[in-house]
Amino acid sequence: MTSYNELAEVYEWLISDAKLTPAEFAASFDDVISLLPSNARVLDCSCGTGQLAVGLAGRGMQVAATDASEAMVRRTAELAEEFGAPVRAERANWEELPDHFDDETFDMVFCVGNSLHHAEGARGRDAALESMSRLLRPGGRLVLTSRNWELVRSRGSRLDISDHLVRRNGRDAVVIYRWDIASQWEEEHHIEIAIAQVDAAGPVLVRSELLSCWPYRHDELTAELHQAGLRTERSTYNPEAENYTVVASKA
Ligand SMILES: C[S@@+](CC[C@H](N)C(=O)[O-])C[C@H]1O[C@@H](n2cnc3c(N)ncnc32)[C@H](O)[C@@H]1O
Repeated sequence: MTSYNELAEVYEWLISDAKLTPAEFAASFDDVISLLPSNARVLDCSCGTGQLAVGLAGRGMQVAATDASEAMVRRTAELAEEFGAPVRAERANWEELPDHFDDETFDMVFCVGNSLHHAEGARGRDAALESMSRLLRPGGRLVLTSRNWELVRSRGSRLDISDHLVRRNGRDAVVIYRWDIASQWEEEHHIEIAIAQVDAAGPVLVRSELLSCWPYRHDELTAELHQAGLRTERSTYNPEAENYTVVASKA
């Protein structure tokens, strides 16, 4: 079961240097944000620690932020308070979103940062995408970023250990990913993430979590978006690149 409640406290060690602040995180989506009016209504439906939501609010947008993890939502609310950003932060799974917001509320919904693979298989993804689609106004857009699972699966089960220390909040850490790749695409896969904070003068502090995920091919995702009433406008998918972004609009 994926909870992120352990990782929430140390999540900044997993965010790249270039996206650490809310302004920097939002700027990484400038190409799609430029399609929005300045007072647009936007939802980040897997908000994590809230950098994107707070960054969007800093640009004057009306922002809602949701996540399945209570601990992540708490961190988003804390970040919003720190920046004086008016963000409506609530705990909700993707399937629960229609209980929290009216249909056709948002101009843009973000589901970014390797989140969608946590939906349980094709059925879970369909339900998640259906919820996101319902909340978009006609012409509104879903912005989704994804791991390239074709590439990840081709490498098989393995261990990735960072070859440098990651420094956050004055502490260095080694970041470890353990990939448990099942033999079939549709089976449950696992990623174990460990953050080992190291300090020559003190104990090594380790936080880790075993996350479940269900991979999908880019073609499958395109078909599933279509099924949910979303037409892919652009995709950066490249068989050799680690990640890609899909922008899909609601008919
Ligand atoms: C890898 S993190 C990405 C967080 C953030 N979007 C970012 O880019 O840093 C994945 C997030 O998806 C959330 N998540 C996982 N399953 C979910 C679900 N069924 N509904 C909503 N959020 C979910 C997790 O709690 C976690 O915060």
